[in-house]
Amino acid sequence: MLPEPEPEALAASSALLQRVREALAASGNWIGFARYMELALYEPGLGYYAGGAAKLGAPGDFATAPELGTLYARTLARQVAELLEPGEAILEFGAGSGALAEALIAELSPERYLILETSAELRARQEARLGARARWLERLPERFRGVMLASEVADAMPVHAVAWRAGGVYERGVAEVDGKLGWAERPAAGELLAAARALEVPLPYESEIGLVARAWMKLLAARLERGALLVIDYGFPRREYYHPQRSMGTLMCHYRHRAHGDPFFHPGLQDITAHVDFSALARAAVEGGLEVLGYASQAQFLVNCGITELLEQENPDDPKRYLPAASAAQKLLLPSEMGELFKVLAAGRGVQAPLLGFASGDRRHAL
Ligand SMILES: C[S@@+](CC[C@H](N)C(=O)[O-])C[C@H]1O[C@@H](n2cnc3c(N)ncnc32)[C@H](O)[C@@H]1O
Repeated sequence: MLPEPEPEALAASSALLQRVREALAASGNWIGFARYMELALYEPGLGYYAGGAAKLGAPGDFATAPELGTLYARTLARQVAELLEPGEAILEFGAGSGALAEALIAELSPERYLILETSAELRARQEARLGARARWLERLPERFRGVMLASEVADAMPVHAVAWRAGGVYERGVAEVDGKLGWAERPAAGELLAAARALEVPLPYESEIGLVARAWMKLLAARLERGALLVIDYGFPRREYYHPQRSMGTLMCHYRHRAHGDPFFHPGLQDITAHVDFSALARAAVEGGLEVLGYASQAQFLVNCGITELLEQENPDDPKRYLPAASAAQKLLLPSEMGELFKVLAAGRGVQAPLLGFASGDRRHAL
């Protein structure tokens, strides 16, 4: 059983449900799952990322790498330092609580630290934490030189849900039946159908296609004049993502540190995510004119960047500092935690490979 939300949260969820109903009413009682996910996560003031829920860290619904302390950021900083040229900026997408930004700024003192955040509520929290140390952008700059960072952002983008059946390819969407939201299918069309047909899956099969993330990646690639883009997230290359055994897809919901599979549970109060198809992102980066510079597991990347040396610099006689750092390293590196499921993809323009983080264990060939 999932814990019951507070009355105030339930009221916010009801208001969001009303928005979903309005969207359904406007389009014959059916919206694609991507539209539903967009409403559930980003509807201003009500969506999961746009409302007041705690989200990240202990009181929230999940813990991300930057929330585990500064070891992750200090290690990542080594890769960023290698990539950044004098006068260039760091641009972080979806900066969450601002923890990664704070630690990277402390470590690297970049000339400019820019943040592009879609959630007004998270942006306000970031502004309160970072003040004049960062600058917030309203939109992606036309041209950018430096390092773009997206840590657990691509997994939070709306995905299209698809069902491959003997009768054809269907887009899975949402309809209201007897006062309840539930899954409903329609024949897939257009770009989604083309993308679904390009995948080889056994029948029947259900999964997600990240058209939004692909378009985002292509846009970033086109705007990156010189420098690199680092995408860090949980996911797989195409062959593993659409593996015959993963026939139920990768959609996951998080509510108060419990993972479950029902995206219709109190919309707006829980996180909804899908794993990232890194092959698709790499392809989109290349379509946008970038070169893929590296692809590795998070553990391999962090080890290449020197996480173990950084940990050794901590004094074991100071347990207050040492123990949290050692425990963060375990979470970040262990294959059973984030070490193997999380990957790092680097793409860039005008950058000389090999990069520090991919010096060994680069799996570009698997993309
Ligand atoms: C799972 S949270 C991760 C936050 C933070 N990066 C971390 O690791 O703790 C996802 C973040 O991405 C933001 N986001 C989603 N889509 C975005 C987009 N297209 N551009 C910028 N931020 C986005 C969300 O508002 C949220 O802050």
